[in-house]
Amino acid sequence: MTEPTLRIDAGRCQGHAICYLLAPDLFEVDDEGRGSVIRDTMKSDGDQEQAAIAIDRCPERAISLRSA
Ligand code: F3S
Repeated sequence: MTEPTLRIDAGRCQGHAICYLLAPDLFEVDDEGRGSVIRDTMKSDGDQEQAAIAIDRCPERAISLRSA
């Protein structure tokens, strides 16, 4: 089975930077606060948990974790 991959839909991201604040191991933000994924594969249950929280808290529903 394919490992799920963490993604940010750049078209939806509005730069709230909540993903980075909640999960700095998985996301970074640019000067405008727009997020990008720095590690797209989940190495531990802690990673999965952080990803799930970020997915839940992004106001724009821009983050997803899905199989390729
Ligand atoms: Fe963008 Fe959502 Fe993060 S709007 S910066 S993906 S919290």
